[in-house]
Amino acid sequence: MTLRVAVIPGDGIGVEVIAQATRVLEAIGGLDLEAFPWSADHYLATGTTIPAGGYDTLRSFDAILIGALGDPRVPDNRHARDILLGTRFELDLYVNYRPVRLLDDRLCPLKNRTRRDVNFVVFRENTEGLYVGAGGRLRAGTEEEIAIQHEVNTYRGVHRIVRYAFDFAKARGLRKVCMADKSNAMTHGHALWQRVFTQLAREYPDITATHLYIDALAMLLVQSPDQFDVIVTNNLFGDIITDIGGALQGGLGMAASGNIHPGRTSMFEPVHGSAPPLAGKNIANPIGAILSAALMLETLGRADAARRIERAVEEAVHAGETTRDVGGSLGTREAGAAIVKRLG
Ligand code: NAD
Ligand code: IPM
Ligand code: MN
Repeated sequence: MTLRVAVIPGDGIGVEVIAQATRVLEAIGGLDLEAFPWSADHYLATGTTIPAGGYDTLRSFDAILIGALGDPRVPDNRHARDILLGTRFELDLYVNYRPVRLLDDRLCPLKNRTRRDVNFVVFRENTEGLYVGAGGRLRAGTEEEIAIQHEVNTYRGVHRIVRYAFDFAKARGLRKVCMADKSNAMTHGHALWQRVFTQLAREYPDITATHLYIDALAMLLVQSPDQFDVIVTNNLFGDIITDIGGALQGGLGMAASGNIHPGRTSMFEPVHGSAPPLAGKNIANPIGAILSAALMLETLGRADAARRIERAVEEAVHAGETTRDVGGSLGTREAGAAIVKRLG
């Protein structure tokens, strides 16, 4: 069966890395890719971020692949809010799945750490927290300005992401789940995370459930990443620690992600942004985008195709056929071509 994929290249290097992910998907075959121009350029030209009915259009596909959104010409990033965060919220993609796996010892920025030490996944809550946009500003622009941004944590929202993390660990035979919050300071919202985590942990007696404050987790990700299998945390903390995760893999250009609602149309994207200083220069690393496409195929039930892509990426990385950020000398297009060639 041909799978239909909506592709939103977006802004900056998003366009360049998605071109390579698209080549890889075309080489794999069995997919019908449809591109959407929604981006800063499109917004500045038309005044529209996402057209009326846009989320329904996306829902009619089997999956969505996004590059990146963000452009200095749109200072409030309104288009990114509607297209990227809007898709996460409107399609209720509550699982932000961000695997952190070092592909080559050479790429790890930590001393004496190897592939064995950097191999864990982060589940970032993706529909609540500080991202819901609740709050407001009073007396904006004056010295009396008051700016309030509420963090929203619901029992249902916390429960479903923590449940997903435990179920994932169980299904993969992973033995440890760590929940990170800031319940020592955020005594209302994060007490809820504590309660739900403790409650659900009891249902998984074979899994060691641990808790860390997010600041301690940030330290330990650098000091001893080997101790982690599965990490679950809220929306903002997950955003921050997965950039650390990107660095542990050799750089943000290596990091892949899925925005998932099990059984529904889900969205896949590299962890990095539009990197304006790199844009248009054929230097961005396409691997995060390509591995996101592999995650998409895996989620769509095409695990064999996903493994083929992952193998080709690993071989290219080991052979040094990569962009400069990860030690190679190739351009974005050439690095994509090297991976396509290795698909066999
Ligand atoms: P960024 O991820 O775009 O770039 C930060 C730095 O990481 C770059 O300067 C570069 O050194 C490195 N980098 C990132 N991707 C790379 C790649 N593929 N290859 C090589 N190096 C890479 O983060 P930023 O500069 O903070 O944000 C730029 C814009 O992107 C902002 O508008 C921001 O809001 C947006 N953004 C969007 C997404 C998304 O669409 N998912 C994610 C993060 C940031
Ligand atoms: C990410 C990005 C986004 C986020 C921005 C662009 C809103 O940093 O996907 O990691 O914070 O979720
Ligand atoms: Mn981020």
